[in-house]
Amino acid sequence: MNTASILLGPLVGGLTHQSANLWARCQGEAILYAWVSHKPDLSDATLAGQSLPLDGRTGFAGVVPLSNLQPETRYYYTLTTSKQSPAPGQYPSFTTFPPPGEKRSFTFLFGSCFRPTDENGGEAFAVIEEWRQKENFSFMLMIGDQIYADDWKHNGIGKIAVSKDDYRGVYAYTWTRPSLRRLFPNLPVFMTLDDHEVDDDWHWLDAERRWATIPFYNRWERILRGFKPQECHLPLHRVRDALQVYWEHQLMHAPPLISAPRLNYANQYEFKEGDSGSLAYKFTCGAAAFFVMDTRTMRIQRQTILGEGQWQALETWLMEVKDYPVKFLVTSSALLFDFFGDVTADRWSGFKQERDRLFYFLAREGIENVYIITGDLHSGHAISASLYGPNQQAIPIWEFCASPFEQKTNWLSKLLFIPVSSGAVKNEKLHFVKKACNFGVVRVQFDETHQKPVVHFTLIYKDKTSGQWLATEPIG
Ligand SMILES: [Fe+2]
Repeated sequence: MNTASILLGPLVGGLTHQSANLWARCQGEAILYAWVSHKPDLSDATLAGQSLPLDGRTGFAGVVPLSNLQPETRYYYTLTTSKQSPAPGQYPSFTTFPPPGEKRSFTFLFGSCFRPTDENGGEAFAVIEEWRQKENFSFMLMIGDQIYADDWKHNGIGKIAVSKDDYRGVYAYTWTRPSLRRLFPNLPVFMTLDDHEVDDDWHWLDAERRWATIPFYNRWERILRGFKPQECHLPLHRVRDALQVYWEHQLMHAPPLISAPRLNYANQYEFKEGDSGSLAYKFTCGAAAFFVMDTRTMRIQRQTILGEGQWQALETWLMEVKDYPVKFLVTSSALLFDFFGDVTADRWSGFKQERDRLFYFLAREGIENVYIITGDLHSGHAISASLYGPNQQAIPIWEFCASPFEQKTNWLSKLLFIPVSSGAVKNEKLHFVKKACNFGVVRVQFDETHQKPVVHFTLIYKDKTSGQWLATEPIG
């Protein structure tokens, strides 16, 4: 086999206290070889594993799973496409997590919505990379719109993505922006999708998940601009292609799905009514538990955002981790942020009953120390509230939002905010809204005297007037 070179990556996904998935996408057919060492120059690296042969069926993307790693240990690594050991040099590293349940302080980053303005887009990632060299970040959560498949002006392919090759082309362009390319090898990631991995504000129309659509104004705009018919509509096969390519780039290296959707004969998601599978997954970092929701592929217009199967998985998980000192619910759509004139109702505000199901479940079961981590809004915010169940015991809850890494910002968000209307939620307080490109920093700090950690959120944002990246006061 000819060995093609690496196009995207390497990056570290699915990190645990004892394992990691090293991911890359190559230019053509290849096998990935993973070299791992405790030394930064890899001078004593050993061959720790290899991928399956990468071919066109996965867009030449693949992973090398590493196992039997030691907890809280730094590993230097590289991926090669030949079996020859790497030349000495400076190599990236990752540090394995503490074992599940171990109370350790840590810091993670999060953000969403990356639409590079031009070839040099990705200033936020350059800021993160510079900072990362001075401070230890355990990982970064990327909460959706990791590409803008439908943004023909900025997606690198000059048209709306309609085929697997188009979607792969958008990833190839977006993820090779120099700053993101430099950051990826050095910061383990956990990803989930929002809408633009497929198309703008898309959703299913029917419970059988045969018919998908985009909003009427998008359709009309595209028709009026003379776009090709396949760019103006969203047939089932395009959703399947987009999600296959999502899997190749964002899910293949993630922790295992809690209950994967069924695949069809072509190895694509089948999407049949009654299939309880979703793209949700969970992981732990020491004594912090994370549930990463799939708010997109189960979403059926005016019916459900998560689907019953994912609800069962979420409620089971919440009971499993009830005694964990801190839980993070990761959702690409904001939960506690409603606003006037939200015509698209593309967030949890469009599914109020279902949102109440979560609030009442947390209140009824007395599940404390829950933090919602979200994005999507093109502005950052921090919200606190109290949940009240039948026994009227108040349970604090927080929502931290960081969005966008780089995209147009939403100047209306501050003016139009309204507290959610729910019998379970009281004392909702918006602590700040920041309309600027940004990312979030969450510090989880345990000390010997307290069972519960202190959890602080800081938004790092690009100040419009000075062009400097500034930090909000820590909150939480
Ligand atoms: Fe976005």
